[in-house]
Amino acid sequence: MKFQILVTLKIAALIVVTTALYTYIGQLVPQKMVLPPQETVMRADMTTDELVQIGLELIDGKGLCRTCHTFEGKKGALRFPDLAGIAATAETRIAGMGGLEYLARSIYEPNEFIVEGFSPGMPVINKPPIGLNDQEIVAVIAYLQSLGGTPTVTLDTTLGDMGLE
Ligand code: HEC
Repeated sequence: MKFQILVTLKIAALIVVTTALYTYIGQLVPQKMVLPPQETVMRADMTTDELVQIGLELIDGKGLCRTCHTFEGKKGALRFPDLAGIAATAETRIAGMGGLEYLARSIYEPNEFIVEGFSPGMPVINKPPIGLNDQEIVAVIAYLQSLGGTPTVTLDTTLGDMGLE
């Protein structure tokens, strides 16, 4: 009888210790709060610099561009093209196609042209899961144009005449 109580007590103690231990380990794991992407506020009177800044925020955040792309001018065996100086590169990619159209097509129809040495795999940016809207894409393009060039897009720019959107 005495022995049985002892065993029961031991089991109870073990349960308490194990629970405490797992709770403690659980606390050690960094807690990350996941928030839904914020709606970007676009004002009609934004300056080009503000548009470029929003484009950068979208590239770092909701656009997920940095999960694949680097912007530091990396060379060598890359899995994804480095986008440093992309405005200048975009002008030369497809004979007869301007840089703006090339950038827009890269985003709306990423599989239309595949950069030499790379594999297809870039998601369509205006469709879920990324799903940037047309104005957000204009901001992203403004930022890309600022890399090795001068932004020409504004919120009034429509890309519809390129058969996009
Ligand atoms: C899942 C990975 C992935 C994500 C996310 C991604 N891309 Fe790409 N991107 C690629 C790949 C792969 C290529 C090269 C193949 C091709 O041309 O489609 C590429 C090519 C490009 C090019 C053409 C580069 C050149 O040198 O001509 C541009 C511009 C570009 N991406 C912009 C973006 C932007 C802007 C975003 C975010 C809004 C983005 N990408 C998100 C994978 C990705």
